[in-house]
Amino acid sequence: MNDTEPQTADGKVLWHFLMSLDGFVAGPNHEMDWMTGTSVRPGLHRNYIETTGAVLGGRDGWDVIDDSRPYGGAWDGPIFVLTHHPEDAAPADGVTFLNCDPAEAVRIGLEAAGGKNLEVFSPTIGRQLLERGLIDEIDLHIAPILLGEGIRLYDNPGGEPIRLHGLGEGDPTAAVNVRYRPTTTARIRTAER
Ligand SMILES: NC(=O)c1ccc[n+]([C@@H]2O[C@H](COP(=O)([O-])OP(=O)(O)OC[C@H]3O[C@@H](n4cnc5c(N)ncnc54)[C@H](OP(=O)(O)O)[C@@H]3O)[C@@H](O)[C@H]2O)c1
Repeated sequence: MNDTEPQTADGKVLWHFLMSLDGFVAGPNHEMDWMTGTSVRPGLHRNYIETTGAVLGGRDGWDVIDDSRPYGGAWDGPIFVLTHHPEDAAPADGVTFLNCDPAEAVRIGLEAAGGKNLEVFSPTIGRQLLERGLIDEIDLHIAPILLGEGIRLYDNPGGEPIRLHGLGEGDPTAAVNVRYRPTTTARIRTAER
């Protein structure tokens, strides 16, 4: 299947997720077990480990992951967590709890990233940054699964649609064609018997 060029470390603000085909980045109670069984191209994790300088997330995601670090602990760097009540957060190595405007959190995060990218691991913060024009790239890996419910990448009822341009070669307005079949399909084609 087609894939994008490897990510580059240019001091960008990346809104970066593994997302279900129907647009969820977590289950209804922040479940992440649906990711199991999805493969990625060789070297993909290494690419993001090398290009990420800092991570910005929200308090809900942080509380749920319970101090597990991005990329299974293979990435080590400054993590910033936005919360309205940093005073009741348990201290953790390399983690700074911020109560500020997301724009200020991005400024702090980019400075800490030292020229590499700042990865935003939060749908709610990403939405606020989009409103402020502070997302440089939306970088998604689409998992071959339909969840049906959960936490959406972008939830903004009543908001205006946000138009995007595809990055890389070709027409930036082109729709991306992905083709899947359900693994439970009852119709087994002749070639697969
Ligand atoms: N699929 C993937 O690749 C991937 C990657 C990373 C994370 N995730 C998942 O994404 C989910 C994130 O969930 P979410 O977006 O609903 O929650 P979230 O962004 O992690 O947390 C929301 C919380 O962040 C704080 N916050 C947000 N904006 C703020 C602001 N402007 N000022 C101060 N605090 C602010 C608030 O915390 P307070 O209530 O404390 O004020 C808010 O309740 C998690 O389940 C996480 O595991 C998925």
